[in-house]
Amino acid sequence: MSVMRIPGHDHQKPQEVTLAEIQNVLGNCHLCPLWETRHNIVFGVGNPNARVMFVGEGPGKNEDLQGEPFVGAAGHNLDALLGLANLRREDVYIANVVKCRPPSNRNPRPEEIEACSPFLREQIRSVWPDVIVCLGNFAAHFVLRTEAGITSLRGRMHQTGHFAVLPTFHPAAALYHREWQQYLDDDFRMLGDWLASHPASPNKL
Ligand code: URA
Repeated sequence: MSVMRIPGHDHQKPQEVTLAEIQNVLGNCHLCPLWETRHNIVFGVGNPNARVMFVGEGPGKNEDLQGEPFVGAAGHNLDALLGLANLRREDVYIANVVKCRPPSNRNPRPEEIEACSPFLREQIRSVWPDVIVCLGNFAAHFVLRTEAGITSLRGRMHQTGHFAVLPTFHPAAALYHREWQQYLDDDFRMLGDWLASHPASPNKL
């Protein structure tokens, strides 16, 4: 794979780098200390030509054990939310800001995010979605390069270069703050409306 570049300010789909090639470069990554406690690297899963790409924070316990993103309680909520946007899991691509589980589900550290960031950047460039849905603060900060909180960012589409970006609450957060579920539901319905009212970009057809 060639030099990693930052997406967001390009409008042209870059030369194809396949997800398999990116995963191959990631290999048995030792770039940050999270390798010491992980069971599996959680690379990402889904349609490599998806219109919608979801970015979460990092694997939890179940994801670490199974090697797949969003398979635990947060994943069940995500599956239900996808239905509100008329999407199925196999339609979309799902990845995380960090690919290895932070111990005890602590927040990923800046140096861990930095070490892992080329892989997410390349995944975004490879899938080249029409919409990136940021699940929670870490994803929103990564994609939108802002420090603004998710509460002020959510509920509307943003744009960064080619990509429409919808920041919303993390599906796990709504399991603890039940009152946030309504906002998540609203945001996913808005996503469905947006997809229905915007034609797919030519590279998706
Ligand atoms: N939370 C995340 O952010 N990502 C996952 O894959 C699972 C839970």
